[in-house]
Amino acid sequence: MKKPIAILANWKSNKTIKEAEEWVKEVSNFQFPIFNFIRVILCPPFISLPTLKRLILKYKLPVKLGSQDVSPFENGPYTGEISARMLKDLADYVIIGHSERRKYFGETDKMVVQKVKLAVKYGLIPVVCISNLKQVDYLTKDEEVRTTSLLILYEPLFAIGSGQPDTPGNANKMAFKIKGVLGKETKVLYGGSINPKNVASFLSQPEVFGVGVGGASLDPQEFLKIIENALKI
Ligand code: PGA
Repeated sequence: MKKPIAILANWKSNKTIKEAEEWVKEVSNFQFPIFNFIRVILCPPFISLPTLKRLILKYKLPVKLGSQDVSPFENGPYTGEISARMLKDLADYVIIGHSERRKYFGETDKMVVQKVKLAVKYGLIPVVCISNLKQVDYLTKDEEVRTTSLLILYEPLFAIGSGQPDTPGNANKMAFKIKGVLGKETKVLYGGSINPKNVASFLSQPEVFGVGVGGASLDPQEFLKIIENALKI
């Protein structure tokens, strides 16, 4: 039996609703083989979630939706924030603590923990992004977070958007260390300059459960090639 794997597409701040629709229409022409061992998670900007949810159902695509962020607060006077309660009908997953949010929007480890708790409260699966082990250690400070089954997306800063991925061997070692801290059942994904050519080398690492794909997920054909190559391992 093939090992289960996950491929997470993070569109970041790209694509209008119309462009998102076009992407999904193009992807729907692809004859997806029966693959219940690959989980494809598409994370568009918030505003495209309702449209994509409708189209995924319409085309019966084997794709789950995730958001790229969630508010650290419940509902209330927090202008501009999208809460976990608002998201639960639109997405199954939520990316939390991406390094771009930490760098450009001042997101702290403490906020990451608050977000994880609210995501779990409303039935969303958190995909927590980390770039070093200190960020993993911080997660263990909170009893509830420590005992939650998390998906961890390991993304070294130098590898994001640079065309210079980490080595598959290093990604495997880091996944092993993360599991050492958070528990063997933790699922660890690697992200940073994943493309159709290198995806298989990461997915074939024993400790690596999946990959996070940024830039290479924007073009539907390139993303489909990533899935096709993942299917071959
Ligand atoms: P990249 O982005 O694939 O464009 O390097 C990865 C990410 O930040 O999730």
